[in-house]
Amino acid sequence: MNIANKTILITGANRGIGRALVDEALRRGAKRVYAGTCGPLQIADARVTPLTLDVTNAAQIRRAAEDIGTLDVLINNAGVAIYDNLSNLDAIEQQLAVNLFGVLKVTRAFLPLLKRSKGAIVNHLSLAALAPLPIIPGYSMSKAAALNMTQSLRALLAGQGIWVHAVILGPIDTDMNRGFDIPKAAPEAAAHSIFDGLEQGDEEIFPDPASQSVAEGWRAGMAKTLERQFAAFVPPSVANAA
Ligand SMILES: NC(=O)c1ccc[n+]([C@@H]2O[C@H](COP(=O)([O-])OP(=O)(O)OC[C@H]3O[C@@H](n4cnc5c(N)ncnc54)[C@H](OP(=O)(O)O)[C@@H]3O)[C@@H](O)[C@H]2O)c1
Repeated sequence: MNIANKTILITGANRGIGRALVDEALRRGAKRVYAGTCGPLQIADARVTPLTLDVTNAAQIRRAAEDIGTLDVLINNAGVAIYDNLSNLDAIEQQLAVNLFGVLKVTRAFLPLLKRSKGAIVNHLSLAALAPLPIIPGYSMSKAAALNMTQSLRALLAGQGIWVHAVILGPIDTDMNRGFDIPKAAPEAAAHSIFDGLEQGDEEIFPDPASQSVAEGWRAGMAKTLERQFAAFVPPSVANAA
């Protein structure tokens, strides 16, 4: 899908990768960028519309979906990562609420618009979805579940002309991993690669050097083979719902 002239909603758009995606979408000629944020946001470009959107807030999700008339691309970028050791259930629930259920609730709310435009859903996942990082196991669980959900959405929505992309991110230089002393890619470079992957139609997008190192293995691997085989089990009533 070409980004030029498209309408795009990005959650968590006030900082980090989300903010870089807003700039990259504008550079590629997007017609309108809805920038979802929990607080106020000022971006001096008439093509950007700030949108109050806490992805755990049902009323805000409903209002956002009512306020937007058309949508081509939904980017589920908002996320939280909490350092834990699986002893704090509240922390695990908080991460599931944003990283898993927030993505699903926002996606469901905007599905009617995406069906109409035959648009795309882009879910921001992590290398920690493929193998858990033991310093953030609750986060890893939430991203693994969100990857699995993304694969189901891809199978369930394919017949309705909606593309579903999984972005498998490695370390990016944002607030999220500020205290983690490892090589990190710039958010601007990641944003550029994410839109390249979207425009190329890549099911999985590996937008940074760390994630690119596993791309070939993922694409040729058993999990991908099984995903394709299992996609045949989409119920006919769903497959024909276009
Ligand atoms: N940075 C990395 O190394 C890395 C690696 C793998 C995956 N990712 C994923 O990439 C995405 C963006 O991460 P980032 O590095 O840009 O993180 P970040 O700099 O910490 O920014 C997180 C963004 O998510 C927003 N957010 C958090 N909870 C929200 C909620 N309930 N509703 C709406 N927005 C919410 C934040 O808004 P506030 O400013 O209001 O808190 C902020 O805009 C996340 O899904 C993350 O898991 C990042």
